[in-house]
Amino acid sequence: MSMKIPFFNYKQTKELEVQRVENTPDHIAIIMDGNGRWAQKRGLPRIAGHKEGVSAVNKVVKAAVNSNVKILTLYTFSTENWKRPKSEIDFILRLPKEFLHIYLPDLISNNVRIETIGDFDSLPSYTREAVQYAIDKTKDNDGLLLNFALNYGSRLEIVHAVKQIISDIDNSKLSIDALDDSQFSNYLFTNGLSDPDLLIRTGGEQRLSNFLLWQLAYTEFWFTDVLWPDFTEENFLSALEEYQQRKRRYGGI
Ligand code: FPP
Repeated sequence: MSMKIPFFNYKQTKELEVQRVENTPDHIAIIMDGNGRWAQKRGLPRIAGHKEGVSAVNKVVKAAVNSNVKILTLYTFSTENWKRPKSEIDFILRLPKEFLHIYLPDLISNNVRIETIGDFDSLPSYTREAVQYAIDKTKDNDGLLLNFALNYGSRLEIVHAVKQIISDIDNSKLSIDALDDSQFSNYLFTNGLSDPDLLIRTGGEQRLSNFLLWQLAYTEFWFTDVLWPDFTEENFLSALEEYQQRKRRYGGI
């Protein structure tokens, strides 16, 4: 059995409260929005908001480990983010390396496994190499799965799945009759992962922005005006507590 070493300092009492409640979400997905506005409010360049956003990622990962969440999927870079100025893109895509340089040892000692969803091969080499190193180093861990959506877009994912399905049908690896929603899910980047139970979006907007469109079919949504760099463990626990009050019916009564 692996030992969970607490590397965080938020209130232990709150942690125990959450762990005692039965319906902690297994899978939480987060749209981390508001970095640019956080910086603008302070008269800083937008990249200062992204940099500060890395600290918020660390806080939330710790809170997720402490709360026994199984999967945390973070929308880190979307297929639409390529429309931003090159300097901002370069900055964001260097953040995984920076984050892992600081926190990988902590993540390893807390039994965290790192994975990604998205078009990994089209990322710059400095992103791919740092992330691949972390994936390899953590592949045998069986605690929290920290899943970075990197160069991810849901429509890209669905089109990619459809092409693969057609090819498998053409090659007689799949029959049309065998294709149902569970089979379809196997062709998505999230193959093997349970669908998110809870979606959190910070920064005040209430939209999905091409994130996990298929997988969020029955997910509970929680929106907050808090800008991502200001997002704390307490905010995360508030979302969990509200989720725990919700009644999920999946179309039933
Ligand atoms: C959206 O805010 C945020 C992003 C496009 C980048 C998200 C990246 C991070 C939070 C840091 C990544 C950290 C790690 C560890 C990989 P925005 O820029 O759209 O904000 P705005 O809506 O206020 O302009």
